[in-house]
Amino acid sequence: MFCQTVVILGMGGTIAGRSARPSDNIGYTAAQVDIVELAAAIPSLSDQGPVITEQVAQMDSKDMDFSAWSRLAARVNHFLAQPDVHGIVITHGTDTLEETAYFLHKVCQPTKPVVLTCAMRPATALVPDGPQNLLDALTVARQPDARGVVAVCAGTIHSALDVQKVHTYKVDAFSSGDAGPLGYVEEGRVRLLRSWQFDQEPSWQTAMENVENRFTAIDWPRVEIIMNYAGVNGTVVNALVACGVQGLVVAATGNGTLHHALESALLNAQAAGVKVVRATRCPNGRVLPRPDDRLPDSNGLSPVKARVELMLQLMTSGSASAQQRH
Ligand code: SIN
Repeated sequence: MFCQTVVILGMGGTIAGRSARPSDNIGYTAAQVDIVELAAAIPSLSDQGPVITEQVAQMDSKDMDFSAWSRLAARVNHFLAQPDVHGIVITHGTDTLEETAYFLHKVCQPTKPVVLTCAMRPATALVPDGPQNLLDALTVARQPDARGVVAVCAGTIHSALDVQKVHTYKVDAFSSGDAGPLGYVEEGRVRLLRSWQFDQEPSWQTAMENVENRFTAIDWPRVEIIMNYAGVNGTVVNALVACGVQGLVVAATGNGTLHHALESALLNAQAAGVKVVRATRCPNGRVLPRPDDRLPDSNGLSPVKARVELMLQLMTSGSASAQQRH
């Protein structure tokens, strides 16, 4: 019997969804079933040790916002600081799970396991995937050597850095791309393929101080994502600069290439003080830097994670005060 506590924080999502008919896997409403009920539906949940549940939010993760992120990070840090808590499981919608995972990786920098899990089918489905995902997440959270933020879905463990939703419907909806998964959960056991990823020198106090009192969008640096595509021009970039945007992440083509019209607008934005970062719109691979790059690359982060990174950098550097421009 594992004596340390695992905390389950509920955020909503399809894992907490209800549909009118059990055979309906898409016409459901997300975020309906509370975390106590979800946990109670799995009789063996606490067989391996004590479990505490807490509802932090009840939302469809497409609507994720800075206030919910701030509250979640605060509760994660609260429980991580308890000596008798071994790890944390977070039930979350699949749609923005990768952004939340990266956000928590940056602001909490946990040396204990923080495991996000989810489902592609609602709790009321004929064959829901949520209960097994939740059990697997608990297995990871109880793993003695586990640490860092990970996502567990369909028996696969993904690191916060690499995880990406890649399928709209399949139960196995996530991938770690080129990096590959961290490991698998099989029949209540973890089979690790590579080592847990976490920051060696935790400095979450500093990162957390920057988000803990920022509950509204106005308090966060404004960073937008734009894309390179056939026929694009600089109109959107120019409009965003005029509105006072502080950062722009461009989902560039291939190895970070940009239409000349978009590139020219982005260079002007950068010259005007806007932070610009190039990620790639390709689902695999990363932008490989070259010495003559005029716009920095995202260091392997996808566009949505590069945006989180840039917002946190702007907060930490104090540039957020420049937001008063808009
Ligand atoms: C959500 O992201 O909250 C809804 C969709 C899902 O969880 O699969």
